Amino acid sequence: MCGIIGYIGDGRACEIIVKGLKRLEYRGYDSAGIVTGDGERLYIRKGAGRIDELVQRLNFLEMPGNRGLGHTRWATHGVPNDTNAHPHRDCTGRIALVHNGIIENFAELKEELLKRGHRFESDTDSEVIAHLIEEELKFEGSFEEALRRALLRLKGSFALGVVYSGEPDRIYFVRNESPLVLGIGEGENFGASDVPAFLEYTNKVVFLDDGEYAVVKPDSWEVKKIKTGERVHKEVKRIDWSLEMAEKSGFPHFMLKEIFEQPKAVMDAIHGNSGVIAGIAKEIAAYDKIVFVAMGTSYHAALVGKYLFQRLVKKVPIVEEASEFRYEFGDLVDEKTLVIAITQSGETADTLAAMKLAKKRGAKVLAIVNVVGSMATRIADMTLYTHAGPEIGVAATKTYTTQLAVLTMLTIETAKFLGTTEREKLLMLEEELKKVPDAISKALELHGVIKELAETLTSSRDAFYIGRGIGFPTALEGALKLKEISYIHAEGLSAGELKHGPLALLEEGVPVVAVAPTGKTLEKLISNVEEAKARGARAIVVGSSEALKRVADTLIAMPPLDELLSPMVYVVPLQLMAYHLAVLRGNDPDKPRNLAKSVTVE
Ligand code: AGP
Repeated sequence: MCGIIGYIGDGRACEIIVKGLKRLEYRGYDSAGIVTGDGERLYIRKGAGRIDELVQRLNFLEMPGNRGLGHTRWATHGVPNDTNAHPHRDCTGRIALVHNGIIENFAELKEELLKRGHRFESDTDSEVIAHLIEEELKFEGSFEEALRRALLRLKGSFALGVVYSGEPDRIYFVRNESPLVLGIGEGENFGASDVPAFLEYTNKVVFLDDGEYAVVKPDSWEVKKIKTGERVHKEVKRIDWSLEMAEKSGFPHFMLKEIFEQPKAVMDAIHGNSGVIAGIAKEIAAYDKIVFVAMGTSYHAALVGKYLFQRLVKKVPIVEEASEFRYEFGDLVDEKTLVIAITQSGETADTLAAMKLAKKRGAKVLAIVNVVGSMATRIADMTLYTHAGPEIGVAATKTYTTQLAVLTMLTIETAKFLGTTEREKLLMLEEELKKVPDAISKALELHGVIKELAETLTSSRDAFYIGRGIGFPTALEGALKLKEISYIHAEGLSAGELKHGPLALLEEGVPVVAVAPTGKTLEKLISNVEEAKARGARAIVVGSSEALKRVADTLIAMPPLDELLSPMVYVVPLQLMAYHLAVLRGNDPDKPRNLAKSVTVE
């Protein structure tokens, strides 16, 4: 995925765009570029590298003009280099555009355009669009008509910002299966892939839907259908995110800030959903066939959801990675199925495709989402928000624990409704859930201890995370955090699986992190830790039971908590450990190599 920011008004476009690009850097950071327009002249500067470095090297802040577009790239077609960086332009240099997404039919379009004499500068699919508009402009009609005709020929996903030198008073923004939101200001307007890009200037937004484009001028904006050019009525919404939420506020990295925001985020998730959860639980209680779909960290949240449902609602949901569901399983769902899609961004391509497929098959779709107004919320029949606020770090942290809070509430309510678990137990869990923010704060007090622990692990080549029952998804999530930001090879395993193969990998000193909440499988897990230790492993154990002191080389002491609530707290030291290892190894935890925050392409 890539990030787009556009501005038109009376401010200096380059300054506003550079700020926006920095806020969007989590969406891609291998190259970046800007086009500004000063009257009929367009200025383009772009190159490979991080934004801070490019601002210096290419003097982005000296670009003239009051309208412009910026782009930060996560390469899909064409390696990250200066020429493949966006913006791209047509042969005449009068059209410039930035693109997020993939043009599936770009090869055939390019061949056709080459035959017509167009000269291409880059290897990207995006450049094709500029030449296609140029080609259409040779025919009758306005630039807008040419743009629309060109868009109708594109297959795939695309969010675009387009400027034309012949129309200095406007910018076009387009959306089709890639996010694009307008920011509505006073005498100035914005377009971006995500709200934080312009949050400093306005919190009034208009979400474009698939198949729509916007014509944006300093004092006006209108949205139209790509298919017909007809105007579409759109509502202006206010987003209750503050700028501070999208800034580091004194923390060295967004990830650390977001880890420390978890007590408040979980509290907000609980309060934000307490009035709506019973209604949703009532709706879903009727379904016996429940399928969770999600990817990455959200998939781990879905796994926790499965254990919760099994224990409290006494139903066995299926949990599928959305990428598998859409090709292998989706056709088997029907109107008797409830699909629960979990996605922080609400724009993960596989999760959206799984949701669409489920709806097509008549299933009911509930989405658990963080980003307000995102695509997932528009596909779903029902939505629960996680209320975590913007998450900028590529590694998901607070959005995970808030997903778990929502799932816990949903399960308790559903169990209450169906009477599948004793009421006292459910009320006790409900009370204890309110104390989870404090328990997370306690876990955060271990920050210094975890840092010291990380210092002893910097040269580890491998790490193994084990857990049983509801601790198993935490082991998977701990391992994912470690691999994605520290680049240490890590595996998350169900502890019972260890001796079925992975045990062969254990050597002297290899860290084995055991997620050990007090519950029905604790004794079994302790035996698994013993087995690992007997092969020389170093046991790092997360838990609260006294019995753990017997086996742990390092004990990460957790506050006492019901096993079913432990995932929200036990993951915290694992997030901190991954964070510190990333920093100690010289990595930027906010921008791990090869990764982007949302995977908007397959
Ligand atoms: C987690 O740290 C990753 N950023 C990634 O696995 C992420 O959880 C996954 O891509 C799903 O994203 P979503 O929740 O926005 O759908």
